[in-house]
Amino acid sequence: MANSTTTARGNWNSKLGFVLAAAGSAVGLGNIWRFPTEAASNGGGAFLIIYLICCFLIGFPVMMAEITIGRKTGKNPVGAFKELGSNSFHALIGIWAVICGVMILSFYTVIAGWTISYVFEELFFAAGMTGWASWISDTSNGWLNALFSVAFMIGTISIIRGGVSEGIEKATKTLMPLLFGILILLIGYVVLQPGSSEGLAVYLQPDFSKITPQLIFAAMGQAFFSLSLGMGAIITYGSYLSPDEDIPQVAALVTGMDALVAFLAGLLILPAMYLAQANGIAIFEGGQLIAGPDLIFQVLPALFHGIGGTLGVIIGSVFFILLSMAALTSTISLLEVPVSYAIDEHQIPRRKAAMIIGLGILLISLVISFKVGLIGTFDFIFSQIGLPLGGILVCVFLAYSWKTSNAFKELERGHANFSQTVVGKSWKAFVMIICPVVILYNLLNALGWFSL
Ligand code: PHE
Repeated sequence: MANSTTTARGNWNSKLGFVLAAAGSAVGLGNIWRFPTEAASNGGGAFLIIYLICCFLIGFPVMMAEITIGRKTGKNPVGAFKELGSNSFHALIGIWAVICGVMILSFYTVIAGWTISYVFEELFFAAGMTGWASWISDTSNGWLNALFSVAFMIGTISIIRGGVSEGIEKATKTLMPLLFGILILLIGYVVLQPGSSEGLAVYLQPDFSKITPQLIFAAMGQAFFSLSLGMGAIITYGSYLSPDEDIPQVAALVTGMDALVAFLAGLLILPAMYLAQANGIAIFEGGQLIAGPDLIFQVLPALFHGIGGTLGVIIGSVFFILLSMAALTSTISLLEVPVSYAIDEHQIPRRKAAMIIGLGILLISLVISFKVGLIGTFDFIFSQIGLPLGGILVCVFLAYSWKTSNAFKELERGHANFSQTVVGKSWKAFVMIICPVVILYNLLNALGWFSL
């Protein structure tokens, strides 16, 4: 039975609703765009292995911790840490989470806007309107960036205004299966083309000589970003979860789905790059595989244009629709964090909160639209550093302030005797020692505080 607080705030209608919403948050541009290129430029299969280790050994325990904190309190991150913590200092962890969420959403919205503008780019190009195609695809055009950011934010706000089950759950239940289907179809097409197989080899063959502290840091940062950890989204989504659900099980499902989509995206992007090369498109720049925005917004469109005809426009536009859908299920989780904070802590009605906060964040996106160089800086501070830092704070808080014995009580509501199981005992060791130490070591190492 849901308690009265959770009922008033909203609830998931089903376990699947939570899993798809949380997986929707996790699966995003991070999986389809960032992961494959990080893997390609960091030793292929070696990066994949380190990444999967980071997801399951570091990300999964932190995800369980976040869901447990959310469900126990039935509150937003600030309210949750305030309720479970012993002093007001603890609320700062929640405030840091909300700040990271707001800042990540501000730049994510601009990139998400590009994914829509490229749907138009593909359509214009196919219609022979090449002038329009190159105009709409100019990511250095501030006014265009602003326009598409506004469009994306309006979409995000309108879903969040609908609430937990009618807004977020409905949207993700439709979008996630579609996303999965499209991804599989695109992979099927690309890997069957001659010339793509070299990409598979680059992706799947591990080059262990590439493993460095920087690589491990990159893989860990990528895992936190991709699993939406360290900024309260999973705490917030967990707060709408019914008390009898099995947290270890749902956390494993979400982690597994996210890692699976990242893995599948690699099977699409790397072969696509080598297919592009086979068609005469440059995929290396200064000896390095082209990555990031240039890969997604130059190499791949050139490949789609090369395919030509109806097939080319279908594959090209559907690819960018896939990216926009993945981005949308992530932006709604980013907006839900400050919105739930405003609802719980300041009693602002949901619709009003979604509108005011969404538009407020859009103002930052508009600045970024004209100064896209800020994306890298924001990403470094709030995702690369901010999220692992949030992860450390969650573990330390749970283990030493709230205490694992209390967390086990919450976990055992949906999973009998969890504290006695091997997974339960290991989870305790990971949350108390292994996760905080490994994450901290990695953070300091990457910041150059000491070398291996
Ligand atoms: N996980 C999302 C992605 O992979 C990004 C995100 C980060 C969403 C943090 C919510 C919170 O693109």
